[in-house]
Amino acid sequence: MFKNNEIYLIFGSTGVTGSTLIKQLAQRAPHAEIRAVTRNPASRNAKWLQQIAPNVRLVQLDLLKSQLNVEVLHGVTRVYALPPFLPKLMVEWHQRLSELLQTYANVNYLVKHSVIGARELVNEDTPSSIPTMHGTGEQLLDVSQWHFTSLRPTIFAQHFISNKAIFKPTESEFFLPIGEAKVAFIDARNIGEVAAKLLASPNPKRHADKAYTLTGPVGVTLDDIRVALSNATRQEVNPKPISDEAFVQRLHDNGLSPALIAVYQEAREGWFSEPSPDFYNLMGYRANTFFEFAQLSAPYFLGGNVSID
Ligand SMILES: NC(=O)c1ccc[n+]([C@@H]2O[C@H](COP(=O)([O-])OP(=O)(O)OC[C@H]3O[C@@H](n4cnc5c(N)ncnc54)[C@H](OP(=O)(O)O)[C@@H]3O)[C@@H](O)[C@H]2O)c1
Repeated sequence: MFKNNEIYLIFGSTGVTGSTLIKQLAQRAPHAEIRAVTRNPASRNAKWLQQIAPNVRLVQLDLLKSQLNVEVLHGVTRVYALPPFLPKLMVEWHQRLSELLQTYANVNYLVKHSVIGARELVNEDTPSSIPTMHGTGEQLLDVSQWHFTSLRPTIFAQHFISNKAIFKPTESEFFLPIGEAKVAFIDARNIGEVAAKLLASPNPKRHADKAYTLTGPVGVTLDDIRVALSNATRQEVNPKPISDEAFVQRLHDNGLSPALIAVYQEAREGWFSEPSPDFYNLMGYRANTFFEFAQLSAPYFLGGNVSID
């Protein structure tokens, strides 16, 4: 373990990726100060972060508010830029972060949490605007003042926890309109592991101007998902065919944006089928399979609370 005197600023720290990142970074950089950004330091997840290690400090910041506590940026040298999923505000979020860091911080390395296929808008584009929103974010944060790396994860396996239009653990069916396509879901905890390794790197220049595509080690079909969920929930769970219209209705009924259908249309078109070697090449071990994700999530599927620990 080398001595690491950096000051880290981690956005999204109370979320599914960020909580793993904080845990791993606290181990990899025990001498560094880790500022975990949250809008609400009193939340359950924020309190959980606080007790990980003495060098983790909660800082209250909401980039989208007009009144900002810029003091939390002072001295910051390394940043994990994970934007909340707010399609209408995503570009503004990146713009503000870029300006603030250039003005108030002393950043030498920034890792942007992006998405697979992030790019500028082109004519023959995917059904979803998410890659172009993140693509613009990458451009805004890739400035000459610091080294820049982009992590581009594919669709998270955690959709089976967070998206109740797909699956509720008390039910014996799941709904995923991906047809015959394979999907190389990533367990979001694996993204946090990569992020911690990069951010603690003694030589971030090695990763400068690189974009790493993060996927699971293998694409899974509806039948593979059936096996994994049935095993984790200790009951038979079967895929139920569903039209896009009916799925949009389920999204709506579960309080989710109908626009999310575009993500699953992309999946059906095969945009998330191919596994990428980047995770293995960076970490030296493979990312979790979907089956392993389901096993790790069994306590939740069997009736426990969603937990970030
Ligand atoms: N889901 C996928 O399949 C997928 C795939 C690829 C990329 N992505 C990208 O991954 C990112 C999300 O990552 P994640 O799932 O790890 O994060 P997450 O669990 O959704 O957590 C994001 C954190 O952002 C903070 N936040 C700040 N302002 C917010 C606001 N206005 N509304 C909601 N949360 C806000 C929240 O912390 P506090 O409440 O503590 O402030 C929250 O814990 C997005 O940029 C998304 O585009 C997602």
